[in-house]
Amino acid sequence: MTIESRDDVDQYGVVGHPVAHSRSPFIHGLFARQTGERMTYRLYDVQPDDFVTTVTGFFSGGGRGLNVTIPHKPAAAAFAHTLTPRAEVARAVNTLAVEPDGSILGDNTDGAGLVRDLRSNLGIAIEGRRVLILGAGGATRGIVAPLLELGPATLAIANRTADRARVVAASFADIGAVTGCGFNDIEGRPWDLVLNATAASLGGGRPDVSPAVIGKSTICYDLAYGTELTPFLSWALAEGAAGAHLGWGMLVEQAAESFYLWRGVRPDTRAVIDVLKDWRTSS
Ligand code: ATR
Repeated sequence: MTIESRDDVDQYGVVGHPVAHSRSPFIHGLFARQTGERMTYRLYDVQPDDFVTTVTGFFSGGGRGLNVTIPHKPAAAAFAHTLTPRAEVARAVNTLAVEPDGSILGDNTDGAGLVRDLRSNLGIAIEGRRVLILGAGGATRGIVAPLLELGPATLAIANRTADRARVVAASFADIGAVTGCGFNDIEGRPWDLVLNATAASLGGGRPDVSPAVIGKSTICYDLAYGTELTPFLSWALAEGAAGAHLGWGMLVEQAAESFYLWRGVRPDTRAVIDVLKDWRTSS
């Protein structure tokens, strides 16, 4: 990658904990090479207690922008001086950028990244479809509004802890119709699109939902990514789902949205997704 460690090169990075597994330096390195932008992009493994100090130090040292990942997204929303509307509604920030006046802008590019992957890369329509989101944490908060804006016939959030799903759904009520329920109360007929936004895959598990939600036309998408299908996606395929997609495309697309915010240049994501696909199949 073209990342150089020179003081006159604009500095970027990703803050998380743990973050060693992050592919963001690789992705932004490819974006930088592809677009000819001169920048560095580093990993910052930061404990929650050190988040504010580290990020303050990064920006006062001339840093231009940061991606923010688990568990710091809500802290980054509190840190930013201003939030974009999509970060405001998600109450989580995955991108911090220095504004021309030196203040820090907080944005959330996760939802835009998901929607772009679904529609542009995978050719999956949302308009008029029945869409089910599993999970009611920060990942879900980032994707509800952009999905609602595309006019699904139904958008439902189901969570292991039903109350949490109801609270998240209620908080988006002024944007569009979205309902919240527990796993046992999901409408038991096949959905068009089922998105796994739970953290279950990280622990090697899957959300315990009825196979009735999967039909022969159902597409399943896991916001998690790895070299193997997640337990949720393997299960969905075994239940007869029409398609199963890991979140690699979303990862690249949310990174591209961040890169665009920082540099004003849109990278070619298809080329980068292809590189990651080759890397996955050869590892
Ligand atoms: P994130 O910011 O990644 O969304 P989070 O806010 O901690 O993380 O939320 C994690 C989500 O994954 C929650 O919806 C959680 O369900 P609960 O609210 O019931 O805890 C869900 N989750 C985690 N492990 C799960 C599992 N094994 N099965 C089903 N849901 C799980």
